[in-house]
Amino acid sequence: MSLVTMRELLPAARKQKRAVGAFNIANYETARAVILASEREKSPVIIQLYMRLFNSDKAYDLAGALIRMAERCTQPVALHLDHGESLEQVERALGWGYTSVMLDGSRLPYEENVRQTRLAADKAHAAGASAEGEIGHVAMGDETALTDPDEAAAFAAASGVDALAVSIGTAHGYYKSEPKLDIDRCRTIAERLPDVPLVLHGGSGTPLDQVRRAIENGIAKINVATEFQHTFLTATNAELAKLDGKFVPVDKFMDPVTEECAAHIARLIRFFSGR
Ligand code: 13P
Repeated sequence: MSLVTMRELLPAARKQKRAVGAFNIANYETARAVILASEREKSPVIIQLYMRLFNSDKAYDLAGALIRMAERCTQPVALHLDHGESLEQVERALGWGYTSVMLDGSRLPYEENVRQTRLAADKAHAAGASAEGEIGHVAMGDETALTDPDEAAAFAAASGVDALAVSIGTAHGYYKSEPKLDIDRCRTIAERLPDVPLVLHGGSGTPLDQVRRAIENGIAKINVATEFQHTFLTATNAELAKLDGKFVPVDKFMDPVTEECAAHIARLIRFFSGR
């Protein structure tokens, strides 16, 4: 039984200058890949789902399998709503058994971000779950707004979040040119918030030497979606090409795809934990 919240994972990670990987899954195979990697690397993981899956029955149905997989895993596993866009979504996730939620108010005016994130954090805590918020904005096809350290300190205190996503130069999706992370900014935020684990969104394609320095300066959770799901697509394509139109049962077809994804996650887990 090792279904946990982020509170069981992230404060210790931050103290030990390592980060826990948070991987955006979208189906059984991507979830299974994360669990396999967690078992093989004997390391905790966070399985997270994008907010849009909570607008349909996908996140509900997947929760059934995810809770079983987490409970069966010998390593701690948290199940997290990523970039929740409303309090209704937060309530849904908590009701469906997710152990952690993010209310992303990073595009709202500061006071409104605090208000909504506080409500989400209160709901999470009442349900025995953990909460993440974001201050500053990590680009999602729009403009980045780097996190102001003073605002980060005030926001963390006012919102009561267990983990704080900060904007230090990453972006969601693949980069058009190599990013340059503002490590000094990260360090300053971390100094202002010595007990709050910081979260790095936009892990895909971020140069690993810069990721390492971010971990050394307070980042304790790293989100990876695009490159992981791309591995799923590429591996599926390669397996389809091998089939050349012939039939194979779908569970057998997916096994090598899942293995490829698990190997990708295992590499990231090793790196994030400093091995
Ligand atoms: P990437 O898609 O860039 O890995 O970002 C993932 C993320 O931050 C999810 O919240």
